Order: sequence, then structure tokens, then C-alpha cells
Amino acid sequence: MKFFIDSADINEIKLANERGWVDGVTTNPTLIAKSGRNFEEVIKEICKLTKGPVSAEVISLNAEEMFSEGKNLAKWADNVVVKIPMCEDGMIAVKKLTAEGIKTNVTLVFSQVQALLAAKAGATMVSPFVGRLDDIGANGMAMVGDIVQMYQNYDFATEVLVASIRSPIHIQDAALMGADIATIPFKVMQQMTGHPLTTKGIEMFMADWKNAQK
Ligand code: E4P
Repeated sequence: MKFFIDSADINEIKLANERGWVDGVTTNPTLIAKSGRNFEEVIKEICKLTKGPVSAEVISLNAEEMFSEGKNLAKWADNVVVKIPMCEDGMIAVKKLTAEGIKTNVTLVFSQVQALLAAKAGATMVSPFVGRLDDIGANGMAMVGDIVQMYQNYDFATEVLVASIRSPIHIQDAALMGADIATIPFKVMQQMTGHPLTTKGIEMFMADWKNAQK
């Protein structure tokens, strides 16, 4: 299973990289705005820091503009993946970008059938948003399990990239379901390292070691 970091914060990406947790990066317009930096400048810097794919999102809403924006984003670095929102125009853009050999990530997916359409259009990755579905009382992980199953049934090459992750349990469930990738906020990556028994165990070992030196 691949781990992407869901961030446009250079410092967070460096810290996660140092710990061996980064196979790729996802950004979105909100994360770019939060970084307070110029879009092109920050994406180019992230691409240099990252061996794997880096998703950069288009901000146009019609097919032609998404297509030309996507073509331009793809020129910024070899590892740019063009992130396109799920909508009819978006699917036209995905089909055209795919035909040009440009990788795409279909974002804002909230249903199994939307994921099917993204795969049919030739998307490289599809991003089901788990946390936002949970927020409205639906079951985000159940959608992920269905998408994994549906793609397996028909041998779709599109990778399932679990997004809008809120806690470590989402990643555990995604791994058990066979999702290809999870894109994870740095805070959640840090939460994954901890366990109260690990903390207690370290404290006990240290104390026993100290006592034995007396
Ligand atoms: C994925 O690519 C998105 O950037 C992200 O996972 C959205 O998550 P949010 O619901 O926490 O904003």
C-alpha cells in the first residue's frame, strides 16, 4: 500500500519524507491557499522533494479549460498528476489528458458509480473522500470497499486513492480492503506511530535500565 501525504506544507513533507512515509503527495486549492505561497512555485518545490506522484488540481470548470490547464500543470514536473473534480466536463478532460499520456486523479468522489465513471474515462487514480462522507452520517469506508471490489471485478487499472482521511482507523480499514493508496495528513501519520502501551513500555525499559546501573 502506498502512502501519500495530503499537504502543501514543505516542512511537513520534509518531516514525513525523513521518516520514510511518503510515496507521493496530494494537494488541493485549500491546502495551497493555506501554504500562503504561489501555486506554481510550491508545486515545483514539492515535485523536487518527492520521487512519486504529486497531485495538482485544476481550478477551471469547463472541459476545454481543464484540459489546457492540465496540460500546463503537467509541464511543471515529470511527476505532476493532474487533479480533476468529478463532473461531466471533468471526465471529458480526463479522457483527453489520458490520450496525451498525462496522469490524472479524479477528486471529490462520493459514490461508487462516480468511481466507475472515472475509471471508464481512463483516470490514473480516483479519490473517494471518506471523512467528508462520515461527516454527513454516511459510511465512507463502505464506499471504498465497494470501489475496490468493483475495480477488481472488471480489471480496471485505475488506482483507489483513499482521501479525506481523519484518523488511523481509516488507514487500517483501507489497507484491509486492498485500497492502493491512502493520502494522509501529517498529523494522522504521527497519530499512527503512537500507542499507550508503547509509551509505557519505553518508560519501563528506561527505568529498569537506569536502576540496573546503580
Ligand atoms: C485529497 O486529495 C484531498 O486533498 C483531501 O484528502 C481532502 O481532505 P479533507 O476532507 O480533510 O479536506
